[in-house]
Amino acid sequence: FRLVVLVSGSGTNLQALLDAVRADAFGAKIVAVGADRDGIEGIARAERAGVPTFVERVADHPGRDAWDESLATRIAEYKPDLVVSAGFMKILGPRVLGSVPVVNTHPALLPAFPGAHAVRDALAYGVRVTGCTVHLVDAGVDTGPVIAQEAVAVREDDDEETLHERIKGVERRLLVEIVGRMAREGWTVTRRTVRLGRPDD
Ligand code: GRF
Repeated sequence: FRLVVLVSGSGTNLQALLDAVRADAFGAKIVAVGADRDGIEGIARAERAGVPTFVERVADHPGRDAWDESLATRIAEYKPDLVVSAGFMKILGPRVLGSVPVVNTHPALLPAFPGAHAVRDALAYGVRVTGCTVHLVDAGVDTGPVIAQEAVAVREDDDEETLHERIKGVERRLLVEIVGRMAREGWTVTRRTVRLGRPDD
């Protein structure tokens, strides 16, 4: 089972997957790591693990459509069964989404706090509980069918950094568990419900 992972930053979610795939029992391998920018720790992590990498910057293309087309082509070269968006900070276009299933991890309990500042927004709102969501990506922003969620309590003394770090600890574990189960068991999507396991299970 072939995974392509997309990153934009530190890549700690990627690192959790890189560590997990080393066990044969995990049932998947990371065949490439893609990024939307150069010089990020996520790419360095892939290189250290000997995983091929590619960078597709929006700025290198005349527009989003051309970028979407180019990213879809690069991803297709690796023939993935699943793309994992792990801290990838661009909205994927219809060509990518039309060519391969994509799983995303988001540091909030969707539909609460979608978008690029979920942790900051949750703190600003004053919620007592937030968390993370692993979901399939559809054409919207953080709107695809939910696969798994886990709550994380907000502490009085939390700031964006401490809360995000605690959420990321949960997120990494949840993402590894879900991606491993999707690789080993498959999944079916019925409207907004994702059921793990093969249809006739
Ligand atoms: C994760 O919390 C992800 O959900 C959010 O940005 C963070 C990326 O962290 N979009 P990393 O790059 O995996 O360390």
